[in-house]
Amino acid sequence: MIKRTHTCGQLRKQHVGEQVALCGWVHAHRDHGDLIFIDLRDRYGLTQIKFNPATHAGAHEIAEALRREYVIAVRGAVLARPDDLINPKLATGEVEVDCVEIEILNKAETPPFEIDGEFEPNEELRLRHRYIDLRRESMRNAIVMRHDICRVMRQYHYEHGFLEVETPFLTKSTPEGARDFLVPSRKAPGAFFALPQSPQLFKQLLMVAGFDKYFQIVRCFRDEDGRGDRQPEFTQLDVEMSFVDEDDVISVTEGLLARLFKEVLGKDITLPLPRMGYADAIEKYGCDSPDTRNPLELFDITDLAAETDFRVFTGVVEAGGAVKGIRAPKGSEKYSRSDIERDLIKTVQDNGAKGLAWIKLEGGKLVGPQSKFFTGDLEARLRERTGAEDGDLLFMVADTKSVASKSLAALRDRLGKEMELIDESEHSLVWIVDFPLVEWNADENRWDSVHHPFTSPVPEDLDKLESDPGAVRSQAYDIVLNGTELAGGSIRIHDPAVQQRVFKMLGISEAEARAKFGFLLDGLSYGAPPHGGVAWGLDRAVMLFAGFDTIRDVIAFPKTQSAACPMTGAPGEVDVKQLRELGISVIPPQK
Ligand code: AMO
Ligand code: AMP
Repeated sequence: MIKRTHTCGQLRKQHVGEQVALCGWVHAHRDHGDLIFIDLRDRYGLTQIKFNPATHAGAHEIAEALRREYVIAVRGAVLARPDDLINPKLATGEVEVDCVEIEILNKAETPPFEIDGEFEPNEELRLRHRYIDLRRESMRNAIVMRHDICRVMRQYHYEHGFLEVETPFLTKSTPEGARDFLVPSRKAPGAFFALPQSPQLFKQLLMVAGFDKYFQIVRCFRDEDGRGDRQPEFTQLDVEMSFVDEDDVISVTEGLLARLFKEVLGKDITLPLPRMGYADAIEKYGCDSPDTRNPLELFDITDLAAETDFRVFTGVVEAGGAVKGIRAPKGSEKYSRSDIERDLIKTVQDNGAKGLAWIKLEGGKLVGPQSKFFTGDLEARLRERTGAEDGDLLFMVADTKSVASKSLAALRDRLGKEMELIDESEHSLVWIVDFPLVEWNADENRWDSVHHPFTSPVPEDLDKLESDPGAVRSQAYDIVLNGTELAGGSIRIHDPAVQQRVFKMLGISEAEARAKFGFLLDGLSYGAPPHGGVAWGLDRAVMLFAGFDTIRDVIAFPKTQSAACPMTGAPGEVDVKQLRELGISVIPPQK
């Protein structure tokens, strides 16, 4: 058997003359009549192997039978390539291996897609044969970068005295706002474990236990609808610290961000990072995860809209809603009337808006369907409020403040991309702070936590907990990278009485709180230190650092948008016998 001495990414000019042995996959195969050339690939790179019938007839004969993706081992001498055959695009491009001996270690079927094809293969096919997909250079690089990022994260926390502790997967519900994945118990038929949505309660109890600096790179499970930046199982870098305030956690997080930028991207970032209040973010950008590289900002014309004769606007204002908008500088050069009314409108409608009003500035005049509602004084105030100039487009949405903000935030993202207003070589990092503790859920008629129910209110606002919950601020913070929430955390409630009051305000009765979170309340009552922490979306971090659009590309074996794995066929049906053991009978889904 040929024993590997080097990888396929290793050989350089200085190795010329050495006897080496390489193992890998046949990446490309070129038959030049007498000479055969092969690009041999492993995860480190490609090396050209030459088979010469005149000097090594046996090896050449075997090489004739090679096909793409066969696994082989070769032995031979490193030769310098003639000057005109040097490949500057390849790290090993100055050399080749003159094969003396070859062994076919395994054959391969023709792969379902090309490893370095020009076109991106269909994702279903890629995921079904993920082991082949991961042979592609971009996928390989993403997995390697993920490893590097995890290594830096671990190193950083070790250096700063954090202890790595594992927490259970078979547990009780740990609410983070999604549905739980349940695991039936065989020993207690009819009872279920929940997979953790995060280790939140365990890390808090580790603080009660006295482990004052904890971290873990850990899988979390959330049964929610898939999107590009969400997966049903994903990984967090989870961190918790005792005897700290918001600034302490923020500063530890910033230190790690700076290390990652330096070590992974070779870039310096300036600390401390900017902070923006939640209310400001919503006002200016319509969302709490703005990409601040995009220069567009929203405007609010609720007061002007109230004075118009446009029923759509006045109706919304009378109902307590808002009219907000966004200005696209020189937008009329990019979008025609039909672009706006057939296409751009979909972006706001997909986010709940009922329509998209618009006005164009042309030859010093307002034109477009809604321009007639802004004349005289109203026109002047609209121009002043929006700063509109000739060629600009003004888009407006009238709705609840939340729908108007959210839909215009989506339009802002789209305009930023399509009008090429974002410098992709730059990055935007901003902390969002001063979140409200809760937001009103009109569908369910109750207050919901903006983060989770264990987030501490700002102490000065505690007296408003019962009388005016919506006005209570929380000690929470999120860091946003290029418009994606990368990490979020808070100072926690460590006083069991305050925790009880928050549960009550959220509509969780004392009995329910006891049943669901009794262990936490008990823990808090046995000497809980003040504590706080943060959790990073590791997959999102890798996605953003590696420049991918979806976290599926940076997870070795991800699920599809519909939460399935085309490779293993999971989720799948199970034996009737297994179900019986678990005391489960399946109700067929209703059509
Ligand atoms: P949160 O729910 O904000 O906080 O999650 C922390 C980070 O995890 C990432 N994330 C996800 N990534 C991929 N797929 C998902 N479905 C998904 N959901 C969340 C995000 C997010 O910023 N226990 C708290 C943290 C704390 O308070 O310390 C928590 O889990 O990047
Ligand atoms: P309608 O009266 O529904 O035909 O709408 C007239 C125009 O107003 C259309 O261009 C709609 O897109 C726009 N529009 C309707 N509802 C809204 C709304 N809530 N906010 C902004 N524009 C709207």
